[in-house]
Amino acid sequence: MSDAETAPWWQGAIIYQVYPRSFQDSTGTGMGDLNGIRSRLPYVARLGVDAIWISPIYPSPMKDGGYDITDFTVVEPLFGTLEDFAALIAEAHDLGLKVLLDFVPSHTSDAHAWFRDSRSSRSAAHRDWYVWRDALPEGGPPNNWISEFGGPAWTWDEATRQYYLHIYAREQPALNWRNPDVQNAMLDAMRVWYARGVDGFRVDAVEHLAPDHLLRDNPANPDWSEEEGPARSLFRTYSSHQPDVFPLVRRMRDLADDHGGRLLVGEAYGTLDEVMLYYGDALDGFQLPFNFELISAPWDPLHIAAYIDRYERMIPPGGWPSWVLGNHDRDRIATRVGPDQARVAQMLLLTLRGTPTMWQGDELGMVNEAVPEHLLQDPWAINNPGTGLGRDPVRIPIPWEDDAAGRGFTAGEPFLPLSSVASATAQEADPASMLSLVRALIALRRDEPALSLGTYERLHADAGTLSYARKHAGRRICVVLNFTAREQALAIPGAARLSTIPGRDLGRVDSLLPNEGVILTP
Ligand code: NOJ
Repeated sequence: MSDAETAPWWQGAIIYQVYPRSFQDSTGTGMGDLNGIRSRLPYVARLGVDAIWISPIYPSPMKDGGYDITDFTVVEPLFGTLEDFAALIAEAHDLGLKVLLDFVPSHTSDAHAWFRDSRSSRSAAHRDWYVWRDALPEGGPPNNWISEFGGPAWTWDEATRQYYLHIYAREQPALNWRNPDVQNAMLDAMRVWYARGVDGFRVDAVEHLAPDHLLRDNPANPDWSEEEGPARSLFRTYSSHQPDVFPLVRRMRDLADDHGGRLLVGEAYGTLDEVMLYYGDALDGFQLPFNFELISAPWDPLHIAAYIDRYERMIPPGGWPSWVLGNHDRDRIATRVGPDQARVAQMLLLTLRGTPTMWQGDELGMVNEAVPEHLLQDPWAINNPGTGLGRDPVRIPIPWEDDAAGRGFTAGEPFLPLSSVASATAQEADPASMLSLVRALIALRRDEPALSLGTYERLHADAGTLSYARKHAGRRICVVLNFTAREQALAIPGAARLSTIPGRDLGRVDSLLPNEGVILTP
């Protein structure tokens, strides 16, 4: 049997991220929901992806877009019911799509019953489920840590006269994973969803579990610039990637294995060395620790080529790569590199070795959109007015139709402004559209296991181009990408199977057009 038949499903797969608030509204609330997602599953299946990861669907006051959760085991009423979820998962499975949920272990909402009890008194049953500390003798928070959304990572609780830790918004108190009761309760929540048939989880912000037990001050980052946001003014030396995180990841993985090998994709922003730790010493951590380089890397072939080489070298034997070009937290790729290079970027994402995770709407070439102040949702934007920080511009609803009110996303008033790009329906009918290109790339990847499972070999990189070969079962496919708006020589012989340039004559090509990527088959 070839490894195409024996590899676990997620190695040959493409994951597609769905952000429920922005995907499809079925009730006219102006915000997406589960039945909306279900109604669009045929579109997702037609794309050719293998799995969806749905950002949090749990009850939430929405102080952080659903990442502030009041109950890990049920569904936010605005999004629907558990019956709606059952219907969604059944239909996804019928269409051949796996379903991953978002698991958010590092914090709850401050409205969660656990935290309400925890803050009720110092002797409350759940007091130690969160990280409480006295003020320093001279007054003020226990250390200098800064919340990811700005301001101190500690909030004073007047009633019980201690501070609680929150790595994110003050409405997101950090859970104390050093307490075994917390571990067990959180693993129980995973069990509940496994029993409901989910195929795995994307695990949120895992680097923050079990921060330094001495809570030492983080050192200052001398290279910090303001546009990174206040939190980056300190290194995260003592607040992230601490050794005690990894046994916790192992526990999650054991549980996933006990349920027939469910998939865990781990979100842990860090250096490559740090990311590698999440594979686990014996590949007993996450099957797929996210690799976020492409969502912030300078769009420079030399940089990207060097990064790929380093990443490929560092992945532990038997470990599998992951690639991400966008998500609900970072600027849209089409905004970062422009519409022409966004097509090249999709070719890169979908031809690298490893499992790509696509961000909803990137297949339509969606861009960041301006969001007026009164519609801002993101605490990062709200806490840092006038700075341009914030993630609402990347969470704009999907434009399904051109002529319908609410662009087919909602019959009501959309919770964020609508997109400026052509709709999915229009793009489906247009062979030159980004959607048509992405579908063609995915179809070719499915046809050619070399593109998903094959080895990676760098062929060439210079200031304008990057080329590499993918090889599998004796078949060798080359990818050549032009990162510039100038024509470039093409030294590699072969017939172009696919180009990012609409209408390009395929067959033998001798040069790369401006902003062109091509896939060459023997
Ligand atoms: C990472 C998520 O992707 C982001 O949206 C969220 O704000 C934080 N974790 C906190 O959960």
